[in-house]
Amino acid sequence: MSAKWRIGIILLPVLVLVQCQVKELDWWEKTVFYQIYPRSFKDSDGDGIGDLNGITDSLEYLKELGVGATWLSPIFKSPMYDFGYDISDFYAIQEEYGTMEDFERLLQKAKELDIKIVLDFVPNHGSNESVWFEEALKGHEKYYNYFVWEDGVEDENGKLNPPNNWVSVFRKSAWEYRKEVGKYYLHQFVIGQPDLNYRNPEVVEEMKNVIRFWLDKGIAGFRVDAIAHLFEVDKTLFGGKYPDEPLAQNREIDPDNYDYLDHIYTKDHEETFEMVYQWRDVLDEYKAKDGFTRVMMTEAYSSPQITMKYFGDGVRAGAQMPFNFVLISEVSGSSTAAELKYALDKFLTFKPVDKLANWVAGNHDNNRVASRYSVELVDGLNMIVMLLPGIAVTYMGEEIGMVDGYVSWEDTVDPSGCNTDDPINYWTVSRDPERTPFQWNSEKNAGFSTGDKTWLPVAEGYETLNVEIQKSTSRSHLNVYKQLTRLRNEPVFRYGRFESVALNPDIFAFKRWHDGEIYVTVINLKNRDHTIDLTYFEHVVGHLEVVLTDIRSKKVPGDLLEASQAEIVAHESLVLKVVHTLR
Ligand code: GLC
Ligand code: MG
Repeated sequence: MSAKWRIGIILLPVLVLVQCQVKELDWWEKTVFYQIYPRSFKDSDGDGIGDLNGITDSLEYLKELGVGATWLSPIFKSPMYDFGYDISDFYAIQEEYGTMEDFERLLQKAKELDIKIVLDFVPNHGSNESVWFEEALKGHEKYYNYFVWEDGVEDENGKLNPPNNWVSVFRKSAWEYRKEVGKYYLHQFVIGQPDLNYRNPEVVEEMKNVIRFWLDKGIAGFRVDAIAHLFEVDKTLFGGKYPDEPLAQNREIDPDNYDYLDHIYTKDHEETFEMVYQWRDVLDEYKAKDGFTRVMMTEAYSSPQITMKYFGDGVRAGAQMPFNFVLISEVSGSSTAAELKYALDKFLTFKPVDKLANWVAGNHDNNRVASRYSVELVDGLNMIVMLLPGIAVTYMGEEIGMVDGYVSWEDTVDPSGCNTDDPINYWTVSRDPERTPFQWNSEKNAGFSTGDKTWLPVAEGYETLNVEIQKSTSRSHLNVYKQLTRLRNEPVFRYGRFESVALNPDIFAFKRWHDGEIYVTVINLKNRDHTIDLTYFEHVVGHLEVVLTDIRSKKVPGDLLEASQAEIVAHESLVLKVVHTLR
């Protein structure tokens, strides 16, 4: 035997070992995060509003789903102009949601079930009904400096106008006058949400204390709200006055619309990333004490280049999960397979190689998957979110394929809808449809509440679309979802490599492979049948075994498909596994 051969034989086991060795994943790297919008999840006291005890009572459901963490939209004291995103006391629980003791019980129960609790951190703004703001109006300097104030501009008739052309995300001027101080304050969202001034070190410290306060209670981290809006341009660079923002290129004609302007002075500022890195330091102080990782998921609808900066700058660490919104913002039911592939590749392409991707198809600010894509694609979208490499995030209700509820103009409460003053078109921007009560069963108010009125109407069709029915139907979105949360625990989905392709305008397919195992997921986005050739993927030959199907598919687990000519019917979604034949 030649020396070369001998070395080869000695090295072979080493190589095999190296290949099989995989990095141990931390809890957050392998779990599914389930978003609860507390107001709409489960009402325990019959006032028509979801609450903390309702969540505590339902934690077992999360366990059954196979999710390991939940992030809760805000539960803090609030006058509810933006349903909890206008916080008047960052250290207290909103009464209609419960008490601090209720929250502690929730944490305790979650701990018993090993479900991590992540809270919403809303750093950009407070509330105009907070003590801070009230003190500011009284001239208390410390609190006056918590907010962003600016002089108005008098026109030739002596009328006072806002300082500049800045527009709120929810329409109209982002400035509101307060005669108590004779100035305007900035609110990038509703009037009730005065922006906090991050150029004031006391605000920076106060908000770090908010983070510490909830971490001390035992939470596992934060979803960070509206982070891209944290800093405004430094006005000292503009002679002490905030400059007008330029008009957007493809702007809407309506100057009250947020998209009318190009937000170069109010969004995506460099200082924002530095702040996120500082918060990560706070989280890491806690980790240093007990070894348990606290996570941060940042919400920014920004370009991929900017989004990646939230991960860190190579030296300093930031968020573990800058939300990847491509499935929400860039594709819909009318997209082609190539457009879907292009969107999914975006995050993977720009992401630093040592960071994990995350996938999210819905939240409380965007229409539901069943409505944005189609009812037929509910399972397919869950397959994408669950089986692509990285962390999966589910908005409550997406596991059963809830659809947008109809909310009349009279019943509309979301400021984004109300601020249109348009009883006809309000629904195009209102977020109420995706916030209608969670559908538990076929009883009164879908089992959400025993009250006579719920804060938003229950969506039509709940009698047949609810958790209870889907639990007892073997072919249901819920059961597909549960199988997906199990499937993603397989090493091939945790560690496997990834390749995707648009096989034709309708069919999107992706392969995951690891340690000799190969899975292919196929999604037919459109209402047309196809025969496809999956041997496009290397080592996908012979037969593929059906592992999981969407609920309408006629195929069942165990069925075999020929890799070179697999029949895929309209809107079919399949998870397939390559069967190893003797070669
Ligand atoms: C985020 C929240 C949204 C809220 C806004 C202002 O985008 O998800 O619901 O209205 O921030 O806090
Ligand atoms: Mg209640």
